[in-house]
Amino acid sequence: MSSKNNTYVTQPFLPDLQEFIPYLEQIWDNKILTNAGPFHQQLEEELCRYLGVKYISLFCNGTLALVTALQSLRITGEVITTPYSFVATAHSLLWNGIKPVFVDIDPKTMNLDPAKIEAAITPSTTAILPVHCYGHPCDVQAIEKIADTYNLRVIYDAAHAFGVNDTHGSILNYGDLSVLSFHATKVFNTFEGGAIVCHDAKTKQRIDHLKNFGFVDEITVVAPGINGKMSEINAAFGLLQLKHMDHVLNQRQAIDTFYREHLRDVKGIECVSRTCETKANFSYFPIIVDSNYGLGRDELYARLKEHHIFARRYFYPLISDFPMYRGLPSAHRDNLPNASYISSKVICLPIFPDLAIEECKRIVDIIRMTA
Ligand SMILES: Cc1ncc(COP(=O)(O)O)c(C=O)c1O
Repeated sequence: MSSKNNTYVTQPFLPDLQEFIPYLEQIWDNKILTNAGPFHQQLEEELCRYLGVKYISLFCNGTLALVTALQSLRITGEVITTPYSFVATAHSLLWNGIKPVFVDIDPKTMNLDPAKIEAAITPSTTAILPVHCYGHPCDVQAIEKIADTYNLRVIYDAAHAFGVNDTHGSILNYGDLSVLSFHATKVFNTFEGGAIVCHDAKTKQRIDHLKNFGFVDEITVVAPGINGKMSEINAAFGLLQLKHMDHVLNQRQAIDTFYREHLRDVKGIECVSRTCETKANFSYFPIIVDSNYGLGRDELYARLKEHHIFARRYFYPLISDFPMYRGLPSAHRDNLPNASYISSKVICLPIFPDLAIEECKRIVDIIRMTA
């Protein structure tokens, strides 16, 4: 078992503390703690190289990056999005005074279903905010086609999609902007952190102004910006994390492979497939517990808990069921049958670099025992 006899759905990867000390010494030496310091600049450069993107702007978290991404494109009116995500996706719209319009997911990919987007477009629609759920890419081509036809902007919530590629390279290169989260629970973390990926220098400059109160220079403020800056400590930790990414991804892949092999023949349990990624990040391990399994989803969740395994029901409840959203016409259950079904059947199993295969075996045995 992992620390204190509990196994959680995730655990942050922490390199040896000694490896971080030289970074701290450098910060103590130069006394630059924030405001685009040397580590911040270096991390932006290294992330562009590592991810295969042109421009990146670091943030103190993914939520403020989402809020700022919408601001940077001056998005207003209505935005089409998925109810099957972490609540920050839709909250970023409300923080901008934008009305979320929920569209159902494809039950296979668990991402926004492009075939259902057109029917939700109104004269007030300005953008689409899809999520690459679990790091599995959306149908980016179909979404691009709709956006081109209706002249809509596309901002991807790519919080789960660090380092994911399709046959063309990084999936962060699709849409107008992509937003990453570097929260402690993510594949790549900076304790708290996030970023916006964009494709041209002018957009990056606007984003950089917006995340720094709108300041352009000492005496010029061009927009009502926010404080979204990443500190030097977070950026330094990101640089150190980046050195360990091969190890992190190899460990995650081994766990993913083990679960898939050992759960393949369990009646009523379906391991969620990847979509079109040629390079995956193994960020989550969702399973669907259907009516052919010996227990209901919540019963299995409780059974795992009895054994000190804290799996999570990502994403239950649906965003559209929370009080600030459920009054919207698009939040109605009849409009979201696939999201409603999946949300009632999903469990994400523990997956993180330090999770021992023996513990995965124990998890699998508990699941198989009740099959
Ligand atoms: C899909 C999604 N969007 C946005 C966020 C918000 O990111 P952060 O926690 O860095 O603010 C998260 C996770 O935390 C997420 O899972």
